[in-house]
Amino acid sequence: MARIQIRGGRPLAGSVEISGAKNAALPILMAALLTDQPCRLAAVPHLKDVATTMELLGQMGVVISLGERSEVELHAAELHTDLAPYDLVRTMRASILVLGPLLARNGSARVSLPGGCAIGARPVDLHLKGLAAMGAEIHVEGGYIQARAARLKGARVVLDTVTVTGTENILMAATLAEGTTVIENAAQEPEVVDLAECLITMGADITGHGTNTITVRGCDRLAGYDYQVLPDRIEAGTFLVAAAMTGGRVRAANVRPGLLDAVLQKLEESGASIAVDHDSVEVDMAGRRPRAVNVTTAPYPGFPTDMQAQFTALNAIAEGTGLVRETVFENRFMHVLELQRLGADMQIEGNVVVVRGVERLTGAPVMATDLRASACLVLAGLVAEGDTIVDRVYHIDRGYENIEEKFGQLGARIRRLPA
Ligand code: EPZ
Repeated sequence: MARIQIRGGRPLAGSVEISGAKNAALPILMAALLTDQPCRLAAVPHLKDVATTMELLGQMGVVISLGERSEVELHAAELHTDLAPYDLVRTMRASILVLGPLLARNGSARVSLPGGCAIGARPVDLHLKGLAAMGAEIHVEGGYIQARAARLKGARVVLDTVTVTGTENILMAATLAEGTTVIENAAQEPEVVDLAECLITMGADITGHGTNTITVRGCDRLAGYDYQVLPDRIEAGTFLVAAAMTGGRVRAANVRPGLLDAVLQKLEESGASIAVDHDSVEVDMAGRRPRAVNVTTAPYPGFPTDMQAQFTALNAIAEGTGLVRETVFENRFMHVLELQRLGADMQIEGNVVVVRGVERLTGAPVMATDLRASACLVLAGLVAEGDTIVDRVYHIDRGYENIEEKFGQLGARIRRLPA
């Protein structure tokens, strides 16, 4: 398996261009299933998960071509199958996002249950409950979700817990349902808003996106889209935390600073100077060691769970003790064991990691377990003495475009080792 080697100790400096958001690109690519008209999406990041999504859609009969740079053209003129097979779904849980569009467009869908994941059970019961409330007949058989609906009906759907892809599945299904759907306790993540904005350009009638109540008035058909994905706030946050950890100065270009409030507030608390422009953010640590910060993850606009591992790594070398509380997933601390291998002093107590900052970490071989945990190990490697080798970097490639090139441009000594 490919590995990444990092030689730590050098402050990062320079500017990095942030790519399109993975978690917006995936649902928007799936939304092409909702129409028989051609669609075009710009600023699509070159990621394993995007490739998997295109493979899945291609298998269904969607004609896909890659435009110049990061543009993708898709045309779901007619669909050959309503099947999302296990061998693809098990590599990317977000494949569940074909369920709502297939039901709305096709009246039927057979989607493999995603199965387990390193960070938690991650059930999809709320997706199914919401679609059933809209009249879908759903049963699970042989590891597959079998769903049918002559035509979905608008309904009031109350989500027990905030679910990003659950909200997105129901939102996409509701655009072609008969009547009005109201989604209560809806996710407010910027990626949900980006999907809604794209659906509106297709002719969908959606209001309330970005709040906890989304209203959708169903229509009979949708046009294609010609849309651009919003920048990835988690990629941006990851590079800005790297700047703070290494005592460097990094400007993240092509970002929407307003979507990073919770993260920037914590970086400021850690002692970084933050400069915000309309589409960029600069973090300057000026050689200082960060101060420890307390974080508690929560649905947007709270502190993002996808930035928890990165701040755990920052606390590992910060001055003082930081408490990191994970409230969204039940097992998102796999990186703690690996950070301890690098010399971090941290203990898990329930859903809190107590992190006592140490002066320095020491490079060692470590294992990536999930997407954000692997990013945090790269960050730790940037400050550890000597070499850190991160194994199973396929986790990183799922969510970070050209990570070693981007860190390399900032002065990091980082390279990919052959498998
Ligand atoms: C999305 O996952 C993101 N993935 C995740 O990003 C992100 O960590 C997560 O939202 C939270 O922000 C994509 O958008 C593709 P959830 P999702 O449904 O939708 C429980 C990354 O690193 N739940 O919001 O799967 C669930 O178990 C990835 O880019 C149910 O109980 O997350 C969890 O505890 C990792 N039943 C909580 O809700 C359901 O039917 C939030 O999960 C659905 C969810």
